[in-house]
Amino acid sequence: MRLIIQPDYDRVSRWAANYVAARINEAKPTAEKPFVLGCPTGSSPLGMYRCLISLYKAGKVSFKNVVTFNMDEYRDIPRDHEQSYHTFMWSNFFNHIDILPQNVNILDGNAPDPEAECAAFETKIKSYGGIDLFLGGVGPDGHIAFNEPGSSLTSHTRVKTLTRDTIIANSRFFDNNVDLVPKTAMTVGVGTIMEARSVLLIVNGHNKARALKHGVEGGISQMWTISALQMHPKALIVADDAACEELKVGTYRYFKDIEAANLDPEAVK
Ligand code: GLP
Repeated sequence: MRLIIQPDYDRVSRWAANYVAARINEAKPTAEKPFVLGCPTGSSPLGMYRCLISLYKAGKVSFKNVVTFNMDEYRDIPRDHEQSYHTFMWSNFFNHIDILPQNVNILDGNAPDPEAECAAFETKIKSYGGIDLFLGGVGPDGHIAFNEPGSSLTSHTRVKTLTRDTIIANSRFFDNNVDLVPKTAMTVGVGTIMEARSVLLIVNGHNKARALKHGVEGGISQMWTISALQMHPKALIVADDAACEELKVGTYRYFKDIEAANLDPEAVK
């Protein structure tokens, strides 16, 4: 696992966006062999999406041959609800780049047969030969996508019940009213994320410090699903200083040290 520590959220966002653009450009995707990107929602990736839009507008990256799969979607809220992940993705990212609508895959939270919807999502990922780069954030309780504590580390796309912690954390998007937050969601599994060829998590802010500590220094545990990344052959976490608050000084220095030799991908190739 690589842990890239940046001083603040702006630098984290720039680093992540440059990394994504560089991977897409390096793959030289075509319509026949697109680049397959796993996409998260939440506040963590917003800065990265803004930077990716700027890179697109500057002609440094194109999403024409990129296929996306979103991590998760709330159950039982209308697709055009202002807090649905469909709305989030289109208004914060897809509407501003050259992605083809038919290349966007987001779970249908209102599917009448949720199991079939989840199975079809996994089949579609496989039909593209898997995900090249899965982007993500992390919840304060260490969950990736909606794989709450106790989720199987080999799980695949399915319906999950949200924990009280997550409902409270996400109530900030629902007028701070926990009753308005959906209680279930559809989400890719930890196994789905682990099957991606590479994974990049954005972890920022003091309220993610415990999750980062468990993800980097803790043992692999279903109680902190972020920790599964320790078993991934190509996992990266880009974190700001605030999120590193609970790491041991030695851990912090170790990653700073080894990453000093790696060039910051500031320039998109
Ligand atoms: C939700 C999403 C996760 C996200 C997490 C953190 O629970 N399902 O994918 O990582 O929130 O969100 P934020 O980035 O807003 O802190």
